[in-house]
This record gives sequence, C-alpha cells and structure tokens, in this order.
Amino acid sequence: MKKILITALTVALLVACASLHASGQVALPLYADDTRPVEERVEDALARLTLEEKIALLHGQATFSSAGVPRLGIPELWMSDGPHGVRAEVAWSSFAEAHWTNDSCTAFPALTALAATFNPDMAYLYGKAIGEEARYRKKDVLLGPGVNIYRTPLNGRNFEYMGEDPYLASVMVVPYVRGVQENGVAACVKHFALNNQEEARTSVDVRVNERALREIYLPAFHAAVTGGNAWAIMGAYNRHAGEYCCHNERLLQQILKQEWGFTGVVISDWGGTHDTHEAALKGLDIEMGTRKPFTAYYLADSLLAAVRRGEIDEKVIDEKARRVLRLITRTVMNTRRPWGSFATSEHAETGRRVAEEGIVLLKNDGALLPIDPSRIKTIAVIGENATRRLTIGGGSSELKVKREISPLEGLRERLGGRVKIVHAAGYASGPPAYGRVLPAPGNADALREEAVKVAANAELVLFFGGLNKNYRQDSEEGDRLDYNLPFGQDRLIEELLAVNKNVVVVLLSGNAVAMPWIRRVPAIVQAWYGGSEAGNAIARVLDGTVNPSGKLPFTFPVRLEDNAAHAFGTTAYPGENGVESYLEDILVGYRWHDTRRVPPLFAFGHGLSYTTFEYGKPSTDKKTYARDEVIRVRFALRNNGKMAGSEVAQLYVSAPGALVPRPAKELKAFTKVALQTGETREVILEIPASRLAYWDETTSGWKIEPGKYTLQTGSSSRDIKHRVTVTIL
Ligand code: BGC
Repeated sequence: MKKILITALTVALLVACASLHASGQVALPLYADDTRPVEERVEDALARLTLEEKIALLHGQATFSSAGVPRLGIPELWMSDGPHGVRAEVAWSSFAEAHWTNDSCTAFPALTALAATFNPDMAYLYGKAIGEEARYRKKDVLLGPGVNIYRTPLNGRNFEYMGEDPYLASVMVVPYVRGVQENGVAACVKHFALNNQEEARTSVDVRVNERALREIYLPAFHAAVTGGNAWAIMGAYNRHAGEYCCHNERLLQQILKQEWGFTGVVISDWGGTHDTHEAALKGLDIEMGTRKPFTAYYLADSLLAAVRRGEIDEKVIDEKARRVLRLITRTVMNTRRPWGSFATSEHAETGRRVAEEGIVLLKNDGALLPIDPSRIKTIAVIGENATRRLTIGGGSSELKVKREISPLEGLRERLGGRVKIVHAAGYASGPPAYGRVLPAPGNADALREEAVKVAANAELVLFFGGLNKNYRQDSEEGDRLDYNLPFGQDRLIEELLAVNKNVVVVLLSGNAVAMPWIRRVPAIVQAWYGGSEAGNAIARVLDGTVNPSGKLPFTFPVRLEDNAAHAFGTTAYPGENGVESYLEDILVGYRWHDTRRVPPLFAFGHGLSYTTFEYGKPSTDKKTYARDEVIRVRFALRNNGKMAGSEVAQLYVSAPGALVPRPAKELKAFTKVALQTGETREVILEIPASRLAYWDETTSGWKIEPGKYTLQTGSSSRDIKHRVTVTIL
C-alpha cells in the first residue's frame, strides 16, 4: 500500500512538472531533465537535499527497496535477486513470498552453465533478456551476476558463479553486465570479495596474499567495473584481513573506488553491515537487509546522530548520496530506457540456447550418444532429477517460474512418439527447505529395486542425478559435507550397470562430484541447472539435434583432497578459529592440478563433441614483442568429423623462464568457432602482452617479465595440441 502511494505521488509530481514544463510555465528542475548530463543532474539534486533526506538514501526502506526523495519526485530504488531470473515479490519487510499472480518469470540457466558456453555472445543475450525481465517488473537493480571464483567443490553457491578461471569469468561478466544495463537496470555484481564458501560465510576472515587476490579473486570484478561499467557492487558477508567486506577500507575505498575509479554504489549483502562508523567511513553506500527496524539500520538514525555530533563529516554523506543519486539517475530517472518484457517466448529461447551451448559432454565411449531412436524400443529414464523442479531451492536465486520443462518432459516431447519411455525415480531426496535438511522418504530400497527392474527391460538407460538445490547440496548458507553424490546414487548407478551396461549418466549440478563408477559408464553429460528450458535443451543435445559444445569452467578432481583448497587441512578450508588462509596461493583449480601434477578427473576446459576437430600448427605474426604490443596467434581449425559443430579453441600460456613462481599454464584467450562438416577456418587469437603480467608484491603493481613465453593451443587445459614460443622484450 505504502509503495503504491509513494509511486503514485512520485508519478503525479513528475507528470505535473512535465506538463507545466511543456506548457512553458515552469522549467523542469535540472535533476529531472533527461537532456542534461548525469553529473550535472546529480549535483543539482544533491544541492537540494537536507541531511535527513541524504541519509534516507543510504539504507533500506523495505526488504528490496531503498528510499528516494518524495519531496522532489526523486523515485526510490527497487532491487531484486538474482543472477538467474527475477525473483518473486516478497513482503515489504520480510522475505515471505507476497503471492502476487504476475511475477512468474523465465528461469535462465545457472551461471555455471553460462560460463560453460565459453561464449560471450551468449552472456550478452542472457544479460539483455534478464535485464528486460527486471525492467518489466520495475526493478532498478538486479542483484547479480556473481563472479566469486570456484575454489572448492564444496561451496554451496558455486552454481551461481562463473567457474575457477579469472580470465574466463572476466570475459563472460562484461557482456552480461552490458546487456542488463542497456535496459536502464543496474547490474549489482556480487559478492565483493573472497566469498568463496558458504560455511561460516558471515564471519570467516579470509587471509590471502596480495598476488592471489589480484591474479585470481579480483579480475572478474575489475572487468565488470572497468569493462562492463557496472553501476553497483555488492559487498560480501565475510571478512578480509580482519574487516568485514561490506566495510573494508582496502577493498572498497582503496581498490574499488580509488584505484578502479568505480562511480557506482556499494550495496551491502543483506545483513552484511555491522557498525555505523565502519560502514560510513570504509566504503559502504547503501545498507540492506539488516535484521532491525529500518530506522535502526547502521546507516539510518545512528548515522544521522553521528553526523550531528560531528563524528562523521557531512562530506562523507554527500559522497554516498551522490553515488546513490547517480544510480537513480542512470536507472529509474532515465526516461529513455526501454519498457522491458517478461516471460516471453524469446526469453525462453535465449534460456534454451544458453543451456544447450553450456551442456558438457564429458565422456562418450561407444555409440550411445547421440541417441538413435531407430535402434531403440525402450528408454529407461531413471533418477529424481529427471522430474524434480530445480528452479526451486538454493537460497536467494530461487525462482517462481512461468514454466519449467523437466528432462523427462523434454525427452517425451522429442522422442516419445518413436520410443517407449519409462520413468522410475530410483532415489528420493527431501523436499526443499531453506537452511535445513529434511529427511528423504524412507523407501530407498523399493525405489532402487523398481528402477533396476525398469532398466533391465530397456535398451538404453538415461540416469538423471547429481545434486539439487537442497541445503548442503547446491544452496546458500551451507556447504556440501562431502564430495560424493548424495541420496545413494552411486549404489544405484552400480546396480543399474549390473543389469544394463548402456547407461548414460546426466548430472544436474553446479559442482563437481566424485565418480567412482566412471570406468564402467560409457557416456557422461554435465547438464548444470538449465532453468525453464532445461529439459528441452537436454533432450536436443542427447538426441543430436544440438551438437554439444560446452566446456568445463572448473576442474573435476578425482578426490576432494586433490583440490588445492583441500590440500592444506582445515586452515585453508573451512578455516580455524574464524580465520581461513588461502595457502594454495595463486594455484587455484587447474593451476594447481597442472603445476603440482595432480591428474584431474575432468580438466578445466574439457568438453567433447559428436564431431571431431583438427588443430593446425599455430604461428605468430612476430617472434618478439614489446610490452605494449598485441600477440596474434593464427591457426587452422577443421571439423573433420561427420556433423556440424562448434569448438572452443583455447590458448594457455606458460612462462618457463620466469623468475617468480608461475602456474604451469594459464588461460589467456579462447574463441568459439562453428564449423560445418569438412569446413576449415583460420582462428586468430589476440593476446595483449599486458595480459601476461603477474602481480608484483614488491612494487604493488602488474609486471610483465621479459623473456620467453610458450603459447599452447588446445581443446582443454590438458588436451594441448600445439605450442609456439614468443619473446617479450
Ligand atoms: C545473498 C545475496 C542476495 C541477498 C538478497 C543474501 O543472502 O547472499 O546474494 O542477493 O541475500 O536476497
């Protein structure tokens, strides 16, 4: 009611101003005049505000809204989760669902799936579509995307992030942010920074050296800010170097605002603010979600009192208010922004395309995939994830969707007319419950036995398992407790194999899992969480309508201990006595596996196709480059198989003669190339020499070491095809 009233008053005031303006009686106030530059409008607005009005801009007035200035017709801001779709409306001052009937959205694939496309064009389409949905729903700030680096497979929120490689995440985040913001909706890139686990997320103090911070954990945020011009950043819950990230002098003031020149707004994570003076002086601009009445927020009445007592300079308030007014001007006071659209068939198609391009064919020995319906009478579809609604659960990214096609529905739609499809759940997990594990139904043996019977009577078994969005699977506030598949799936897979060797395992998850049965299963597919169109995308890949082209955005280790974060005991994960030290340093993900020679189960960048590609020998335009030059690597890529398909050609760099420790190899360029059967194309990858720099802790800056660099082209971080060496002067 309050919201409707404020909105109505705001609109009335703006309409009145505009009509008076049109009739020539009153000049539109400068701050409301869309023809004037943003900075002029912001300064004009700021000069008109009282201290109380400025402070009202700096904290929540509702669960997902912060105030505007009703007296001047400056609208409030409306925010919404999250990275995969626009969340359902909630109550004014709680997270209780509001039960609106017009907020069922398109669920886009989880960000791991987007990252697995290795295709920035897909990231742009995704950002544009989700931005349109946010705009239609009158949201000014979309709380996403998330770009925290995948450090351990146990992190409950990896599915909301873009994998383990800082370069990949940087390339993918920029077009997402641009696509969203073209709608006049701010992207709020989260969670800045070092929020790499859910365990103890609101308290853990992450210690990481400056080099790893700069080379691994910050680049995607830096790209979002400098390349994507992100208008908002969300502070993380955890601490870094003793200070909460939502009021962290080093991260927010020095790095983000001063060094990177961020002109946007730092928004706290919900409940991530802990102190008035700290928050005011160490970089936070808008406080959200504190579990107190809105006036008792740290940046509300107590901030006003601190300014009045002279403890905090009003200039500090001006600086924050200026940023918030800039955000309002860029978004809700931009009269030229488009209107948006919601739950359209175009958005469903975008979601489906991303899901299809992100699906990774991990293994395909034998001829099970693509499915040939002419040779099959019965397919056994086994597993709870064949029918479970996976847009539900997981925490703040949970969605209320207009529709969600399950894998079983997708398969029935595509193959049902030609093949008999029989489903058995095989296992069951509990219903979704935020922050709690509810017991699974007690009929595990009966479910397994039924599934084995169904599998024995089919020519092909498609097993749909993995994780789900339950607490301690892929979900907020808690990490996974172990690396194995849950709910007895390993045993079920073994029993299915005992009656039918033609088993395809399709994993729906945002995380790597152990695969003790790997040698006996001929085909394995990683299908992530595909959103509204998940089932259609999966069916189209399995039946060969779409040739898979996704690549893993993170390493699957054989055992949990093989992952770098788990190689140093509890000090490095999940932390001891509230402190966690990232002892693996810069050797995160494949950097660890390759440098320490720890074989992965599946390597970063791995992903098969139904066709095959041949990599020609690469050449560079020169042998020697200055530090400000761009290295151009050319090679021929040929589809020498029997089906059209796309390949992600990857380029990794090693610095064999480096004086400082460097990872064995690092991704520095990639491109996705579509090729018809028999077609050859020349691939040109460009690497500015500056991309080869490392962070030099002695000078606190990037340094390009002169010397030899080996450029390696390949189909994954482990499947290197050719090498060429250049010298940087
Ligand atoms: C999450 C954020 C989310 C916010 C609002 C927090 O618990 O960490 O990612 O945007 O809630 O729902």
